[in-house]
Amino acid sequence: MLANSDFNFKSPKGFFVVDGVNGAGKSTVLRRLEELLRKRGTAFLLTREPGGTSLGTSLRTILLSSTEPLTPLAELFLFSADRTTHVHSKILPALRSGTAVLSDRYHYSTTAFQGYGRGLDLETIHTINEAACGGLAPDGVLLLDLPVEEGLRRAAARRDGQDNFESEDIAFHERIRQGFLTIAAQRSEPFFVVDARAPVEVVCAQCAAIVERWIAAWEKELHHE
Ligand code: TYD
Repeated sequence: MLANSDFNFKSPKGFFVVDGVNGAGKSTVLRRLEELLRKRGTAFLLTREPGGTSLGTSLRTILLSSTEPLTPLAELFLFSADRTTHVHSKILPALRSGTAVLSDRYHYSTTAFQGYGRGLDLETIHTINEAACGGLAPDGVLLLDLPVEEGLRRAAARRDGQDNFESEDIAFHERIRQGFLTIAAQRSEPFFVVDARAPVEVVCAQCAAIVERWIAAWEKELHHE
């Protein structure tokens, strides 16, 4: 059993998250951040939730495509199983070896989707999130924010079909959007809320500038050790 105190990272630690509503442009932003880190010569791992491990890949298929309806609690447990595996088998080993980690989603999505979206108790979710990730918080979170109609329109335009979340109604996605904004206001780690309605180049440039700053702070800390 891994308790929160089993690892003790100083901040900054080289861990960055991109999260937000569906269709806000996470993939495009992540491609741009990948390019930035390559150019800088920074060793990094680009990963995602759900699906950053081989167990996670199977869980992702169930979560996004199951034809048998999952209860909200089943969703919570499956996303959390994905997360705890991801943190312990991929994120922590990378951080320990001095590799930066860029994750497409983290436990903020569980709070937003299963908590605000599905209506599960937020305290319960908080407890499970903390247990799943062992209290590991990123150095910073880029939160891509967008009106939900626009996000769903963009998501529909880039895919053949909808996954089990995109097919939910507007009210569900609106609760998620407001949930993410509440999380950003309440959490103690730095959140940078990006207005994803702006042209893609503007959004990418803003995200690259902030991640550049976060990475530079982490590298400074690494070189001081
Ligand atoms: P993702 O592939 O990132 O979707 P998209 O590219 O459309 O943004 O994530 C898969 C879906 O899973 C997405 O709709 C959000 C949802 N999700 C949760 O409901 N809870 C979670 O804890 C996570 C990580 C994702």
